[in-house]
Amino acid sequence: MTARQAKPPATELLGPKGGAPIVGLTAYTAPVAKRLDPYVDFMLVGDSVAMVLYGMETTRGIDLDTMVRHGRAVARAARRAVVVVDMPFGTYEHDVATALANARRVVDETGCDAVKMEGGAKLAPTVRRVVAAGIPVMGHVGLMPQRVRRAGEFRSKGHSEAERRRILKDAAAVAAAGAFAIVAEGVVETLAREITEKAPVPIIGIGASAACDGQILVTDDMAGLFTEFRPRFVKRYADLGTELERAVEAYAEDVRARRFPRPEHTFKQRRQRAKGH
Ligand code: KIV
Repeated sequence: MTARQAKPPATELLGPKGGAPIVGLTAYTAPVAKRLDPYVDFMLVGDSVAMVLYGMETTRGIDLDTMVRHGRAVARAARRAVVVVDMPFGTYEHDVATALANARRVVDETGCDAVKMEGGAKLAPTVRRVVAAGIPVMGHVGLMPQRVRRAGEFRSKGHSEAERRRILKDAAAVAAAGAFAIVAEGVVETLAREITEKAPVPIIGIGASAACDGQILVTDDMAGLFTEFRPRFVKRYADLGTELERAVEAYAEDVRARRFPRPEHTFKQRRQRAKGH
C-alpha cells in the first residue's frame, strides 16, 4: 500500500471557510473508503454504523472498540481524504479526562485525522481540552442522534425561538472552543443559514439545507444500501441494494441449476513431471 498524503494543520483540514463546498460521506469499511477517497474531502466513520451495519435502533449501542476497528479500516484505505471518527455515546460526555484519554486512543489506534463529538455549550470545555492536546475536533449540533433513544424520535430542530437560540449558542461555543468544523444536523433552513453566517469555521450540513459550507450524507442512504427508512433530506444516487439482490438471485439460480462454477472458475490438476526427466 502507498502512504497517505501529508495532511495540513487541523484548522486547514477542510480548507478555509468560504471556499468551494465541502464534500463528506460516511465510510465504515476499507473497500468503501477506497471508492470514496478520490471524490470526497472527508470521510466520517460515523456512529451511524450502529444502525447501518449492526442493525441497532439508534446510534447509542456502539462501543469504542468497534469504532476503533472501523476507524482503522477506513484510515488504512484513505490516501487523500481527511478521516474523522465519531466518539461513541458514553465515551466523552461525562468528564474531560475520560474524553481526552478516549480521543487519544481513537487517534493513536486508528491513524485518523480528527474525532467528532456531539454537543454544544456544555461540551465546549471538553472540546477545548482535546484540541489543546493536539487532537482536531469536529463538532456536531442541532439534531444529536446520540440523544435519541428510540427510532421514531429523529426530528428536525429549530422550529421554536428558544430552540434556535440554544442551537446558535451551541455552535458558537463549540467553534470558540476550537472545533475546526461543525456538523449541523436536521435544522431548518433559516437557522442553518444563520449558523453558517455566524460561525468562523465551516458548517457541514446534513438535513440542513444548501445554506451550509458543505454537506455530508450516510453513504448507505445515498447509495440505496440502507433502506429501513429514508430521511427526507436524503437524495438517492444509486440503488445498490436492488443491484445486490439481483446478483444474489442470479448466483443462487446458477448454483441450483449447476451453471456455476464453470471450467474457467475451476482449478485443474497440474501434470507432474516424471522423476529423472
Ligand atoms: O454518524 C453519522 O453518520 C453522523 C452523520 C449523520 C453526520 O454523525
